[in-house]
Amino acid sequence: MELFDAVLNRRSCRKFLARPIREEDISRILEAASWAPSPANNQPWEFIVVRSPHLRERILAAAESCRKRLSERSGWKWIDRYSLEFLKEVPVLIAVSGIPEKSGADLFLEEGAGLGYQQACAAAIQNMLLAAHDLGLGTLWFSLFEKKDLREILGIGADRDPIALVCLGVPSGPPMKTPRKSPGEKTRYL
Ligand SMILES: Cc1cc2nc3c(=O)[nH]c(=O)nc-3n(C[C@H](O)[C@H](O)[C@H](O)COP(=O)(O)O)c2cc1C
Repeated sequence: MELFDAVLNRRSCRKFLARPIREEDISRILEAASWAPSPANNQPWEFIVVRSPHLRERILAAAESCRKRLSERSGWKWIDRYSLEFLKEVPVLIAVSGIPEKSGADLFLEEGAGLGYQQACAAAIQNMLLAAHDLGLGTLWFSLFEKKDLREILGIGADRDPIALVCLGVPSGPPMKTPRKSPGEKTRYL
């Protein structure tokens, strides 16, 4: 697949078939993640591949209560309509954790200090989404969880920062179309 095809046509997937994912596809996706840029090439990420139905159920329960608290705190109406059903079907979740001590020079700067590891993890996640798309798989960058819950469920230590869950599976239908503003609205040329 052409890179631009992947970039322009990848969409978040929220409906999956309960079909297992091949080991080699997971490996390729993790390899794509590991080639992301990072501060001083520190590679401040770790991955946990979750396939256990029991753990997925616990993640779903944690996401449900996170959604409830978010609804109470924010007053957002849409959050009550947002379905977490896909967490019952998706066969693989890849937890991406960052390693805060592996930020780079930004650790010693005044603004944005210590955020480099998060930016690197975001780059790794995007590589995963694009690699999965190239393999014909659907993904969702999922963040509706309290970090403490994910730490407890997946055994992630206090020295790691749970950044996201990448939901990975075979899409069960076409994705939702999401619009974009034009780059012109978002760019200044000086
Ligand atoms: C940091 C981040 C967190 C996100 N968290 C969630 C999430 O918890 N649940 C969800 O359904 N989508 C989540 N998304 C996906 C966005 O909703 C989605 O990327 C956006 O609406 C654009 O749609 P597209 O990915 O189909 O182009 C997240 C995306 C990012 C970058």
